[in-house]
Amino acid sequence: MTTSSSERGVSLGMPELPAPAYPDDVRARLETDARAIVARYPDSRSALLPMLHLVQSEEGHVTRTGMRFCADMLGLTTAEVTAVATFYTMYRRRPSGDYQVGVCTNTLCAVMGGDAIFEELQEHLGVGNGETTADGKVTLEHIECNAACDYAPVVMVNWEFFDNQTPESAKRMVDDLREGRPVAPTRGAPLCTFKETARILAGFPDEREGAVEATGSAGPASLIGLKLAKGEAAPARVVHPRGEAPQDAPPHEPSPTEHLSSHDAPQDTSASDPAHPSGPVAEEGE
Ligand code: FES
Repeated sequence: MTTSSSERGVSLGMPELPAPAYPDDVRARLETDARAIVARYPDSRSALLPMLHLVQSEEGHVTRTGMRFCADMLGLTTAEVTAVATFYTMYRRRPSGDYQVGVCTNTLCAVMGGDAIFEELQEHLGVGNGETTADGKVTLEHIECNAACDYAPVVMVNWEFFDNQTPESAKRMVDDLREGRPVAPTRGAPLCTFKETARILAGFPDEREGAVEATGSAGPASLIGLKLAKGEAAPARVVHPRGEAPQDAPPHEPSPTEHLSSHDAPQDTSASDPAHPSGPVAEEGE
């Protein structure tokens, strides 16, 4: 016996109604901003990414109405806009909180404590990945590498860096955000809400006093490789556990099985196992 698609609860794929338009006053305001964005580019379609940030700054996420607005303004189809908006993770597709707390759980951060931070924050906040606290303040997400591995484990709030976090510091930080207490990133501009961040990402000036000057630059951990390469840095130090004083590493003596290439695979391979019958100890052709 077969069951119909409606019995199985399967959508029949009915077309969606067109997205509602913005109210006239909102549309008029957004059009002014959109024209300023489009004027920056020789080809209007190139303005799509900042336009999506603009509509995200209006509603806190990219709605169908926002995508329709982008399509209208740029002469694109809503399918083209949707394809872009759904590709990039910086565009939210659901209503979310004032503060997007992203815990990096990519490899380096994960092993340095990112997985533990994410797990404890889920429990502490009572939300899962991509969910928002009932007060609408915090949306918790695990995020991919943010190129801040030298400060692992890293947490980002509305794309500002919170370096070298622990489960305790991260829990304190989300508590402060929810209570409205001041929270300062480790580096970069002061925090603002997700909507305000989206407007800055759309390319509009950050007019908060001192915000631009506070943007900062690469920190010592990021520059050490460059300094070593230039011969400006002292011999390498062993990374020390948080809270302990750094200690100079003894001079490095490569083992006979160690490759000196900087990009080789881990050394603990069959080739480095003296009990293994094959490997570089065997003469070619044996
Ligand atoms: S792995 Fe977390 S910032 Fe790179």
